[in-house]
Amino acid sequence: MATTELRISPEDVKQAAAQVKERIPEPGLVVIFGASGDLTKRKLLPALFHLEQAGLLPEQFRIVGVARRNLGSAFREDMKEGVLEFGGVKDGVDKLEEFVSKVDYHAMNFDDDAGYDQLKTLLESFDRDYGTRGNRLFYLATAPEYFADIVHRLGTHGMAKPEVGTARVIIEKPFGHDLESARELNDDVNTVFSENQIFRIDHYLGKETVQNVLVFRFANGIFEPIWNRNFVDHVQITAAESIGIEGRGPFYEKAGALRDVVQNHMMELLSFIAMDPPASFAAEAVRREKIKVWTSIKPLNIFDCVRGQYGPGIVGNQMVKGYREEDRVDPDSHTETYAAIRLEIENWRWAGVPFYLRAGKRLAARATEITIQFKQPPLLLFGANGQGGCEIQPNILTMRIQPDEGISLRFGAKVPGPQMAVCPVVMDFSYAQAFGASSANGYERLLLDAMLGDATLFAHRDGVEATWALYTPVLEAWAKKYPQTFPNYAAGTWGPQCGDELIGRDGHTWQAIRVPARAKAE
Ligand code: BG6
Repeated sequence: MATTELRISPEDVKQAAAQVKERIPEPGLVVIFGASGDLTKRKLLPALFHLEQAGLLPEQFRIVGVARRNLGSAFREDMKEGVLEFGGVKDGVDKLEEFVSKVDYHAMNFDDDAGYDQLKTLLESFDRDYGTRGNRLFYLATAPEYFADIVHRLGTHGMAKPEVGTARVIIEKPFGHDLESARELNDDVNTVFSENQIFRIDHYLGKETVQNVLVFRFANGIFEPIWNRNFVDHVQITAAESIGIEGRGPFYEKAGALRDVVQNHMMELLSFIAMDPPASFAAEAVRREKIKVWTSIKPLNIFDCVRGQYGPGIVGNQMVKGYREEDRVDPDSHTETYAAIRLEIENWRWAGVPFYLRAGKRLAARATEITIQFKQPPLLLFGANGQGGCEIQPNILTMRIQPDEGISLRFGAKVPGPQMAVCPVVMDFSYAQAFGASSANGYERLLLDAMLGDATLFAHRDGVEATWALYTPVLEAWAKKYPQTFPNYAAGTWGPQCGDELIGRDGHTWQAIRVPARAKAE
């Protein structure tokens, strides 16, 4: 009789992963505007090299960096350093030199028409010399104030609607700084490119563990029936960072935590947790379900939105500055480095279930986690104290997005012995143990998808506007009333008291974050 093996060995998992068939994009060029910035060196080039290593780039492929400074061949060297330093790659590895030889640079000002003409000529010469067939993926990694102008000039210089090949544009965040500016930018970009050419990137969607939220929910039969207000007590989403603003004072002063991570990364996580099953995994179907979630959120009550700013403190055994002492930050700054939000989704699935979001810099550890707390059983058969065991605790499902990626489920188990004593235990799945550690940074998948023209994991204009519509009133209210208490948390702690009070009002506490030793100092 045939039997089904319940345990799947790590080897089986690896073999299955190796058999996944990947799609390889058409020959083409990736043109990165703002290429001298950190993003290109730290994330984009390492990600492109990872794709090359995995055999996922076409042979006829080139990367062109575009920026103002006259970098010449130094650019290529700098990009190689980036791949080595941030890509977890050792010098001399297979394919590295060949990859680096495909990197070029074009210096120009973003408002210089002659520069666009020269760029066009250069790209056409690459088509002839390297067989890139007129396919271009433009990546806007500049400061956001240049986005509209670059897009406009790509249009007027004939690079947006090519006669031969395809043109696509990836636009980095922040996509606008409030509802009005996001609408304006959408209008500007949509006059030049059609929606199916536009890829608004949120790198959280490139993370394996974020995509796994959908797989966990929709590729398994046992969770979906309990994924609703009948069984879920509340949901918490934490995006904690131990780093500060990393020299990005001027950017962060204008952004703050709400704009920097809540309106985008955290709302993406929320939509994956809360959405209904899409009709298919096609871009339109997935985006539609996400937008339904965001537009069902009750307008935020300002008392359900709290903010904080870090003062000096100790992170990873080191004394660090407060936010106001950071380089190029106003010593009286009112910018929030922490935000916590309580919200409700008014639909049949979630009515009455609070969702708590918190994000902050210079917190005690780096950890992005989602916890789903389930309701207690209707009858505590073994008493609230489990007959001498621990206090009976609700089931909690934790999805660890990063670091220490994995999923765990807490449940009560009988303590061995003559009593019916109950204690919480944890069932744990670790990504690294099952699939091995990965050096991917999330951009691999997104760059590949954009080259393939698959927008499933990118934001749609309606989605961007829906999330800005939610947070713009909060930002406006915050801008009118400066907090008198800043700084209100010490670096290296779990944030201000108002964050604890926000969730405490409903009788809950933030779930303790399990911090692996290596993550503490990150
Ligand atoms: C970026 C923010 O979008 O995301 C940064 O601008 C933040 O401030 C970063 O540090 C967090 O990304 P990750 O992948 O490190 O969680």
